[in-house]
Amino acid sequence: MTRLRVREATKRYGDNTETVDVFTNLNLSVDADEFVTLMGPSGCGKTTILNVIAGLTPLTEGTVEFDDKSVVAGEFPFGYVFQEPRLLEWRTVGKNIEFVLQAVDVNPSEYDSHIDSVLTRVGLADERDSYPQRLSGGQRQRVNLARALAIEPELLLMDEPFSSLDEVTARHVRQDLLDVWYNTDKAVLFVTHDMSEAVALSDRILFVDREGNLFDEATIDHERPRDFDDPALRETETRLTRRFFGSLQ
Ligand SMILES: Nc1ncnc2c1ncn2[C@@H]1O[C@H](COP(=O)(O)OP(=O)(O)OP(=O)(O)O)[C@@H](O)[C@H]1O
Ligand SMILES: [Mg+2]
Repeated sequence: MTRLRVREATKRYGDNTETVDVFTNLNLSVDADEFVTLMGPSGCGKTTILNVIAGLTPLTEGTVEFDDKSVVAGEFPFGYVFQEPRLLEWRTVGKNIEFVLQAVDVNPSEYDSHIDSVLTRVGLADERDSYPQRLSGGQRQRVNLARALAIEPELLLMDEPFSSLDEVTARHVRQDLLDVWYNTDKAVLFVTHDMSEAVALSDRILFVDREGNLFDEATIDHERPRDFDDPALRETETRLTRRFFGSLQ
């Protein structure tokens, strides 16, 4: 079942004198339990695509549909993991999560159990009372993920969430993400520059060119759960890297 559908979307910045079309007539969809990744050169519009879906910036033309209903962008249950964890430094990890629960329809009597369960899912149960500043980068990114998961979104938007982490930490957090995803079957729209990460995580990769057009698409049908070190994944990565970077000017 299609969960998210972006139809004939155009995003234009600027005024009457000078305008920039970040993308024009863009179409994409994500199924209910699908993991879809956007890849493309810097500045091609990946963050803008996530932002229009999240309703952080309006579309110039086109529609966003959720469960086959046209929606005001942002008005459906989504979680957004930004590239940099935007944590509230003056609140504990638990209180950071409580903050987002207050914005949705969760009964305050359930906050405690909810916070514990979501922190356990990302391996941070022991850090509930810690302040963000004493956490490592990987732990902060896990809190970021936990916060997006806490509201039990039907769609998870993730903008290069692991790009600032060292490779060892990134592998752990990627595995956390996949474990959560296997258990909840939510739709994910993920952005990365890293082909190996895209191949390890995705069902489908959408390639965006410098003009913001989706010019190619690859289905990744390696069996799950996947072993990140599986040579077959490396082969796919090499093949897609050639195909993708070979066609970019
Ligand atoms: N508020 C804005 N006003 C005008 N132009 C903007 C605005 N926000 C983004 N842009 C332009 O839109 C284009 C796409 O930006 P966007 O941040 O979506 O790219 P990106 O693909 O996410 O890049 P990166 O990989 O570097 O994160 C860029 O050319 C950028 O300059
Ligand atoms: Mg970006």
